[in-house]
Amino acid sequence: MRQPPKLLHPPQRWTFSMVIGIGLFLFTLIALVSPAQAAPAYQEDKPSNDFCLACHQEKGLDKSIGKETLPVTINPIEFGLSVHAEENIACVDCHTNISDYPHPDVKVKTIRDFSLELYTSCKECHEDQYELTQDSVHQRAFDEGNINAAICTDCHNPHTQTRLTGQQSGELTPAARLHIPGACAQCHSTVYDQYKDSVHGTALTEENNVDVPTCIDCHGVHNIQSPTTVTFRNSTPGLCAKCHTDPDIMDKYGISTHVLDTYVADFHGSTVKLFEEQYPDQPTNKPVCTDCHGIHDIVKVNDPEAGIALRENLLAKCQRCHPDATANFPGAWMSHYAASPTENPLVYYVNLFYKFFIPAVLGGMTLFVITDIYRRIVNRRKEGKHK
Ligand code: HEC
Ligand code: HEC
Ligand code: HEC
Ligand code: HEC
Ligand code: HEC
Ligand code: HEC
Ligand code: HEC
Ligand code: HEC
Ligand code: HEC
Repeated sequence: MRQPPKLLHPPQRWTFSMVIGIGLFLFTLIALVSPAQAAPAYQEDKPSNDFCLACHQEKGLDKSIGKETLPVTINPIEFGLSVHAEENIACVDCHTNISDYPHPDVKVKTIRDFSLELYTSCKECHEDQYELTQDSVHQRAFDEGNINAAICTDCHNPHTQTRLTGQQSGELTPAARLHIPGACAQCHSTVYDQYKDSVHGTALTEENNVDVPTCIDCHGVHNIQSPTTVTFRNSTPGLCAKCHTDPDIMDKYGISTHVLDTYVADFHGSTVKLFEEQYPDQPTNKPVCTDCHGIHDIVKVNDPEAGIALRENLLAKCQRCHPDATANFPGAWMSHYAASPTENPLVYYVNLFYKFFIPAVLGGMTLFVITDIYRRIVNRRKEGKHK
């Protein structure tokens, strides 16, 4: 009888399994040994940082690019303190095209184009951040032809960047928070100038207070979205409320944490809140926090010049939407106050009156009904006994 042909004879099958087995073993070993981050493989002949720095630490070294001059001195001490040196990243891990001197020709004609060519190297090791930036106002501005929109190296100098997040916590360090507005200021100086004089900005820039928002608390970092959309506007009360309803932050400054609930209870706020929940993309004509308080220029409410506790300053804000409003107009509004004997006493006492009046009337009626029933029962019993 003929045996059906086998694809592999037994001894061959054995060898085959051995090869697969050893292959799998080696693969697992390599996967276990190599770190998760794409760390550069060690090369025997890889030029050392010392080799590059021997020339590059020389002061006054530069290179002509087109009509511009690019300084090429690298401070070895600053580089040594950088997170990349700390992590043993070599010059040539980023400058992959350079291994010797003279260096290959630089083909670009401007320093900006030089940066644009080199910054893509960040992607090799920081893919998450790179992906996020692809969906940002900066990338969109760039795609529309604005080559000055921020790229990685505008906000992070690869040679001097120190650690931003705690190695254990993964959270942004306080020192890093302090530097953020300065990074954005390179290109958004008008906004920065307003911010630094605001109640939030002075606290950060003059008192090193990190309880206050920096640019990225409101805008995000790598995937900054347009702040002029309806969705962003409708989300601002939530943005401010993150801190302004938190007693752990606000008690220190004696600032009320009821600014959101009083705002939502208000006719303006309740409408915005409903809108946000039901039609997040629909524009609202009611004011959000920033319409009264400002945005980058928020000041203390009792600021002697611009504070909105001052009737005329507040009136100017109301008049943007209520053009006919006169001096007494803001008085018709409860502001953030829950009614109290000193604030809005009329509303307070009317509320108080109802608080006692209604229970008193209802309670009195109930008492009357109960005693009446009792009286009737007692009377019936008495009548029964007499029969
Ligand atoms: C023998 C000295 C010398 C050594 C070694 C050297 N460089 Fe340079 N490098 C220069 C000089 C000088 C310039 C500027 C003018 C030029 O290119 O001739 C320069 C320019 C550069 C530039 C600017 C743009 C460009 O490509 O020209 C980069 C980036 C650079 N070097 C990186 C490195 C790296 C990385 C190493 C180590 C692998 C290194 N260099 C080693 C002397 C040196
Ligand atoms: C983490 C990546 C990274 C490392 C590590 C790195 N570089 Fe750079 N380097 C860059 C990028 C990106 C640029 C372009 C900078 C820009 O756009 O401003 C650059 C620019 C340069 C320039 C041009 C001048 C300048 O400052 O823009 C020189 C010179 C240079 N690097 C040398 C070095 C040397 C020498 C080392 C090692 C001691 C090194 N680099 C390490 C990424 C790196
Ligand atoms: C060869 C790999 C490699 C390249 C290329 C690289 N980095 Fe890094 N970078 C690292 C490692 C490793 C760390 C250590 C912290 C970590 O785990 O992210 C780091 C840390 C950082 C940090 C601080 C992160 C923190 O949490 O504190 C920043 C910011 C940063 N890199 C920016 C850049 C930029 C911008 C570029 C491109 C110019 C770049 N890196 C290119 C490997 C690299
Ligand atoms: C507009 C400025 C800006 C640009 C552009 C930018 N970053 Fe950042 N980046 C920051 C700020 C500010 C932080 C600190 C915020 C934080 O850690 O939450 C940060 C944090 C980081 C961190 C630390 C970990 C993290 O995600 O918080 C890494 C790594 C990093 N950036 C890499 C990059 C890379 C790579 C690019 C380019 C693809 C890039 N950044 C572009 C401003 C920028
Ligand atoms: C290298 C320059 C540069 C840096 C640094 C930079 N930006 Fe920008 N940014 C731009 C450009 C260019 C645009 C697009 C043009 C515009 O709308 O102003 C833009 C747009 C924006 C917009 C959208 C503006 C609008 O009207 O839609 C916001 C928000 C923004 N940036 C926030 C930030 C923040 C926050 C930082 C710091 C973490 C920062 N930017 C750092 C250049 C920069
Ligand atoms: C407390 C929250 C908050 C902080 C902090 C903040 N922003 Fe804004 N930003 C906003 C809001 C809200 C808008 C939308 C303005 C509008 O409705 O037109 C805005 C608008 C912008 C715009 C576009 C419109 C314009 O005025 O040019 C830019 C650019 C911008 N911010 C950059 C920054 C920068 C840079 C910083 C830090 C110096 C910063 N922002 C800090 C909330 C904030
Ligand atoms: C219609 C205008 C208006 C809107 C909208 C508004 N506020 Fe106010 N806010 C005021 C006025 C006026 C004051 C000062 C007088 C007062 O205390 O009522 C004030 C006071 C404050 C104070 C200081 C409280 C204190 O204890 O000193 C904070 C903080 C505040 N508002 C935050 C917010 C936040 C957050 C929102 C949005 C959720 C918001 N405001 C919405 C007008 C407004
Ligand atoms: C990251 C937390 C944080 C966010 C987000 C934030 N604030 Fe503040 N805000 C603070 C802190 C902290 C102070 C107190 C600063 C001080 O007095 O030194 C403050 C102070 C204020 C004051 C001054 C109150 C007074 O009269 O003393 C107003 C008004 C205010 N914020 C409004 C807003 C508005 C409106 C938003 C949203 C657009 C907002 N804040 C977002 C933390 C925050
Ligand atoms: C961003 C625009 C905007 C701002 C700023 C604004 N309001 Fe209004 N307000 C409205 C809209 C819209 C209505 C609803 C009108 C309607 O549907 O009858 C309204 C309604 C009112 C009403 C109810 C009575 C009426 O006229 O319908 C009062 C009272 C009022 N606002 C007071 C104020 C006060 C006080 C301020 C300043 C502290 C202010 N508003 C600021 C948009 C605004």
